[in-house]
Amino acid sequence: MAEAGFTTDVDCARQLDAADPLAAMRAEFNIPPAPDGSESVYLVGNSLGAQPRASRSYVGTELDRWSRMGVRGHRSDRLAWVTYHELLVDQMARIVGGRSDEVVAMNSLTVNLHLLMVSFYRPTRARHKVIIERHAFPSDHFAVESQISQRGFDPDSSLVVLSPRPGEETLRRADIIDTIRQHGDELALVMLPGVHYYTGQVLDMAAITEAGHGVGAMVGFDLAHAVGNVMLDLHQWNVDFAAWCTYKYLNGGPGGVGGAFVHQRHVEDQGLPKLLGWWGTAMATRFEMDTKFEAVPTVESWQLSNPPILSMAALRASLDLIDRAGGISAMRRKSEKQIRYTDFLVDALLEPEIVCITPRPLAQRGCQFSLRVTASGIDGRWPAWRATGAIPMSSGRLPCRSTIRSPTFTGSSRFSPGCCPEPAPTPRLGEGPPRPAPF
Ligand SMILES: Cc1ncc(COP(=O)(O)O)c(C=O)c1O
Repeated sequence: MAEAGFTTDVDCARQLDAADPLAAMRAEFNIPPAPDGSESVYLVGNSLGAQPRASRSYVGTELDRWSRMGVRGHRSDRLAWVTYHELLVDQMARIVGGRSDEVVAMNSLTVNLHLLMVSFYRPTRARHKVIIERHAFPSDHFAVESQISQRGFDPDSSLVVLSPRPGEETLRRADIIDTIRQHGDELALVMLPGVHYYTGQVLDMAAITEAGHGVGAMVGFDLAHAVGNVMLDLHQWNVDFAAWCTYKYLNGGPGGVGGAFVHQRHVEDQGLPKLLGWWGTAMATRFEMDTKFEAVPTVESWQLSNPPILSMAALRASLDLIDRAGGISAMRRKSEKQIRYTDFLVDALLEPEIVCITPRPLAQRGCQFSLRVTASGIDGRWPAWRATGAIPMSSGRLPCRSTIRSPTFTGSSRFSPGCCPEPAPTPRLGEGPPRPAPF
C-alpha cells in the first residue's frame, strides 16, 4: 500500500525529514545514544521524554541563584521562588486548553489525583460508585480504590470497571456512555484516562464528560499520556478536573512536577472539601503565619507545599521549546504525518505477524503505537531486536511492553505479545501477583 507516496525505502524517510518544518527541533534535545554508541531513534517519550538541551542552563540558573542568594532567592526578582510556579501557568494552560486560573503545576500525578478526588469524589449512600477501566494504570486503580475505602465504602460494590468487548482491545465510546447511564443515580465519579497508556486509544473526553454530567456525576481524567501528545480543550469540554505528569511528552525530566486542572466553576466554589496547606492560602497573608485560611482565588488553592523549583526550571526549558515549535497544534500536525507514515511501515513490513492495536482513526489516537505479536515463535526475534538497542520495559505474563529501535522499524513504544495469556484482572490492593514495573 503506497499511501501518500510512502515507500519502505530509507530515502522516503529522508525526504519526509527534509520537508518537516520542525526537523531542526531535534537538535534541541539530547537524544541518548544506542548501547553501541550509535545514534538512536528515541521512541519512549510515553515513558520518559528526552532531555531538552536547554534544561541544563535553566536548572543551572536556579542552582546559581541559590548559591549566590540563598534564602533571598525566594523574593528576588522575576524568577523569585515564591512565585516561580506562576511562570508555568499560561504555557501549561495553553497545552491543556484551560484558563490560567484553572491550571497549576504541583506535586506529582498520583498525589494530584488523590487531592482532586478529595474534592470531587463525595460519595453518599445513594451515590457512591466510581467508573474506571479494566486496564487502568495501577496507580490510578490504587488511588481510586483507596479513596473508596477511605470514605467507608466497599470497592466490591462501589468500583465499576469498564472493559473492552471480548476479543477487542479498545473501549467503545457507546459502551462507556451506556455504562455511565446504566449506573446513573448511583454514579459519583467517572475517572478515565485521556489517552490509554497501554493501547494508545484517545477517549472522547467531551462526550464522556457530557454523559457523566447528564447523570449527575463528576468527571475527571488522567492525562499522563495525553498532555503534550494530543489536542486538549478541558475548559470547553467542561471537564471537572484532570491531572498529569510532565516527564513524558512534556520532557520535564524524571519524577518532574505534575500538573492539575480544576474547572473554573469549581475554582470559584469555596465550599468544596479540600486538603489544605500554606501554599493554598492567599499570597498577601501567607507569610503572616496566621492560621486563618484565605483560599487563593484560583486552582492554586489546591496547592499544599512550596514547589520544587529545580524541577520547574527543567520543565520551563521544555515549555519554552514547545512555544518555539508553534505550540501543540504545530506538533500535532507533525505527529499526524508521522502516524500515517508509521502505519504504512507497520502494514508493509510487520503485518501479519505484528499488528497495531492502537485505533486507526487519527481522532482516536496520539503518537503511541501499541503492537501485538500474533505469530507464535516470534520470541526468537527478540535477541535481534535487543541487539539494536530495543529496551525491554517489563516482562512476565501481564502485558509486556518494550521499545523498539531498529533501522527499519520506526514507530513503536508499546509491545504486547499475543502469545501471552489474557492479562489477569487488576488485583485488589495487597492481592495478586506482583505487576510488571510501570515505566
Ligand atoms: C497513566 C498513568 N497514571 C499514573 C502514573 C503514575 O504517575 P506518578 O508516579 O507521577 O504518580 C503514570 C506513570 O507513568 C501513568 O502513566
